[in-house]
Parts: sequence; structure tokens; C-alpha cells
Amino acid sequence: MRDKTKMDYKKWLRNKELKYRDNILYFADVSTIELAEKYSTPIYIINEQLIRKRYKQLKDVLASEYKRNEIHFAIKANSNLSILKILNSEGANFDCSSTGEIYTCFKAGISPEQIIYTGNMFTDEDFNFAVKNDVLVNLDSLSQLKRLAMVYDNLGKEKNAISFRINPEFGAGHHAHTITAGKNIKFGILDNQVIEAYKKAKEVGFKKFGTHIHIGSGILNPHNFDKAIHKYLGIITNLADTLDITFEFIDFGGGLGIPYRPEEEPLDLQVYKEIVVKGFKELVEKGGFDEPILIIEPGRYLTAEASIILAQINTIKNNGYKMFAGINAGFNTLIRPMMYGSYHHIIPCDISQEREKVTYDIAGPICESGDIIGKERELPELNEGDYLAILDAGAYGFTMSSSYNSRPRPAEILVNNGQSYKIREAETFDDILKHQIIPDHLK
Ligand SMILES: Cc1ncc(COP(=O)(O)O)c(C=O)c1O
Repeated sequence: MRDKTKMDYKKWLRNKELKYRDNILYFADVSTIELAEKYSTPIYIINEQLIRKRYKQLKDVLASEYKRNEIHFAIKANSNLSILKILNSEGANFDCSSTGEIYTCFKAGISPEQIIYTGNMFTDEDFNFAVKNDVLVNLDSLSQLKRLAMVYDNLGKEKNAISFRINPEFGAGHHAHTITAGKNIKFGILDNQVIEAYKKAKEVGFKKFGTHIHIGSGILNPHNFDKAIHKYLGIITNLADTLDITFEFIDFGGGLGIPYRPEEEPLDLQVYKEIVVKGFKELVEKGGFDEPILIIEPGRYLTAEASIILAQINTIKNNGYKMFAGINAGFNTLIRPMMYGSYHHIIPCDISQEREKVTYDIAGPICESGDIIGKERELPELNEGDYLAILDAGAYGFTMSSSYNSRPRPAEILVNNGQSYKIREAETFDDILKHQIIPDHLK
């Protein structure tokens, strides 16, 4: 933890392209007050240039060590078509975890060879969709191989490339539910099945191979990748020695964290590179590997900081024990605090008046006492009508939102070069109701 000086905090905000100008909060050089008034709240605001910047930063770091690399954006983090188009225009590839995500990629003009489909608990329908559309499947269980091969045969498609998700047993993540490796975890195949899996894949006719891990999400200390990567590289070496396989790609998954709290430093990309890319390069240089493509699959790292939620305070409640600031965004809008106990920094959009510091729970409007977006936050005294910005909402924000309590999901606004563009309409009540069918006897 570093010394939390005022300058440091300003720098922390600037890193996310947030700053106060004449006491008004600006995001990507656009006034948050103007955005809130123009589009109404709650609303997701997304900063195009920050997504491009994060992609370039990561790409440069990888390319400085190993040229044959690909960044596959994990679209579960943010599947807005405009965001996918932005990343596609930067040269990104994509990680999909469902056929719906593949469909979304196609709608954004992304081609099948840019996608790896890392699902789990695949159905035959999932396989059919992927194989028909020439999307590479990354299997999650040995038992799925037979069914996938059958789908290829039934569709008369040539079995080209396949990959397995390997569970290296060393997981990490910001919450127990985001740790995705370990003996008791549902994902991937363990070490003891790896040889059998690739042997069988060869036998049923697959010709090209990749490997994959994803150990968890929200990893801010790159050394938390150490053990998993070490084990993974050992498994791959053993695989190559035993089966005479050459690998098209070796995928290290995502998981790269971001500093949600002001006392957190950004992920040290140089250290991450040392651990992931250098280890991989040593493996390749040892021989037997034909320059496979190095893949990583970040979601959060690319989009989390590039989005804020603007919300308005409607209620200041002092219940005699505690102060609550009630806002119009709840866990329907951003579920991470409720689901994982996650911290999202919350700041006022206007600090023009000198106000005393007060400690609040920032509460959403959902009818559950767990609907607290920020606990025990010390802020300049708040008033009904004030706007607040909830930071770092661009990953697992909108994609995990819901219409619980029949509250329509908010609109999304893209800001770029001082302009703002609505990239998703807010839902209406009729949108929420539109798939319901009333049987005749109830009409
Ligand atoms: C297979 C896979 N790859 C990549 C990611 C992206 O993770 P993150 O957003 O932490 O980078 C996830 C997240 O759940 C995942 O399951």
C-alpha cells in the first residue's frame, strides 16, 4: 500500500481519465454534469479512447517480448457492439463463453477465425453453432470430445483445430467465486487427463492444437500467476514430449486486475510480462515448439476503467444510527458490490461548495437490504439532487445488470473526442414485458 497523498489520488483519478475542472468532474474531457443532464440518470458513460489506450498498452508490452501474440477480449466483461467494434478496429481477437456471445461478435463484424469459444457444460446445440460457423472450440471436459467430433462428422466439416482448457490447480482472484482453478473447481481438465485428452483428439482426427488456462479474475498482484504458469508450462512440455504435438497457440487466459481502490497501484505490466511471456518464451526456445501464438484473454483490464455510472441522489436519510444516501442505481445496474462485496469508488460530480465530510452508505433503490453500492463512504456532505459517479463500471457492469424490481436497464453513452453518442437506448417498461404471453383463459 502506498502513502495516500492528495497528489497520488489525483494521479490515480487521472489514470482513469477523470479530473475536476472548476470543481466539476470531467470524464474523457466531458463534463459529467452535462452528460447527466442531457441523458438523465442512471446511465453508463464509456470512454472510447481509454479502451484504445489500454489495448495498446497491453499489446506493446506483449509485442516487446514476443511478436506472435494475440489479445482476445473476453466479451463477457462488456458485450456492447460499439465496444467490440472499437477493440476490433485496434486488432483485437475475442474470447466467447456462449453461442450468444459468438452471435454478438458476428453482429459487430468480427470473423470466426478471431474467436475462441471457451464454454463450459457445452450442449450439442452449442457445438453445432460453433462448428457450423467455423469457430474453434476450447473444450472443458474430456467427455465432450466424442460429442464434438460427432457434430463435425454430422455436418461434414473437416476437424481442424481444437483446444482443451487445462486446470493447473493454482487459482487466484478477487473473490472465491472468481477463482477458476483448483481440484474442487468446475473448470477445465486436470493434469492427469491432459495426455489422454490430446491423444484422443488426435485419434478422432483433429490436426491442430492449442492449450488454454484461465485461473481467475481480478488479479492485481502478477505473482499470483506464478505457480499456475509454472505448472502449465510443465504440463505443456510433457504433452509435447509424449505425443509429438505442435501447438498453434498457447493461451494464458485473462484475469488482469485493475486498481478499484485509491490505495491500489495499477497492475505492473512489466512484472506480468516477466511471469507470463518470458516463461512462455523460454519454453518455446527450449525447442520442439514451432513458434506458437501466445494468447491472453483480458476482459476487465481493457474496459473496466473506461466506464462510469452516473447516478442521482434522491434521498438523504438519517435513521438516527447511520446516514444513507439513496441513489437511482442499485444492484440491478451494478451487481458487483452485492455479488462479490466488490469496492467501487464513488465520487461527487460537483465539489464547488465547501462541505463537511460525512460518512454514508450509498444505497440503491432495490427492495433488498443488500442493495448497498458503497459502504461507509466518507464524502463531502451530500444533498438530494446531487450527482455521483460510480467508477470502474465497464467490466461485468452492464453485462451483469438486470431488470429486477421491473426497473429498466439504463442507456449507454460513448464519449470520444469531446462528443457523446448514445450507443444503447435505456430499456422501457414494455421492453421488460415484451416476451410475456398471457394464455387465452387469463385474458
Ligand atoms: C475463460 C475466461 N477467459 C477470460 C476471462 C476474463 O477475465 P478478466 O475479465 O478477469 O480478464 C474470463 C472471466 O471470467 C474467463 O472465464
